[in-house]
Amino acid sequence: MKKIAIFASGSGSNAENIATYFASNDTARVALILSNRADAPVLQRAARLGIESAVFDRDTFYKGEKIVELLSAHGIDYVVLAGFLWLVPDNLLKAYPDKIVNIHPSLLPKHGGKGMYGDRVHRAVIESGDKESGITIHRVNEFYDSGSIIAQYRVPVTSDDTPETVAAKVHALEYKYFPIEIEKEIGKLQ
Ligand code: GAR
Repeated sequence: MKKIAIFASGSGSNAENIATYFASNDTARVALILSNRADAPVLQRAARLGIESAVFDRDTFYKGEKIVELLSAHGIDYVVLAGFLWLVPDNLLKAYPDKIVNIHPSLLPKHGGKGMYGDRVHRAVIESGDKESGITIHRVNEFYDSGSIIAQYRVPVTSDDTPETVAAKVHALEYKYFPIEIEKEIGKLQ
């Protein structure tokens, strides 16, 4: 059984959904949840789910090997970014080549890049008059939101939609498809 680590900066509803999905699935388990914010609600979710968690600061993330060592001490095989907003440093990319996945709440390359996260993305979709939005699940590289795409799923956007209603539709897609796509990627590992 493979071990997953999840990085999350905020609420962590995706982290919880993924952890719950794999709790009854023999492919993998979520073994560690990491956050760059000590007050992130995702840490309370981890505690409630009985999953080990860790908090780190910018220096620890970008300087030295502490994060890679922590992942390796936990025997982590695969890394998931679920609402995590920092660019992943080279040493982590090299330690997990093509084994780090991110979810973005739009149809990339639309509405991606630095500073584009959560509700800002949904607001941009509405302001652009887009007729659809969705999710992009992609491998992580050294740039924001530009690694190879694993899957995209779409929802219609109508003139009645607000950032909140688009967010709700996009979250529903995330909960349904992100765990399945992670499972497929993990299935390809040796
Ligand atoms: C999710 O919608 C995810 O797609 C988005 O943050 C939200 C986290 O929600 N990620 C990004 O915007 C990355 N640029 P959650 O904390 O409840 O899982």
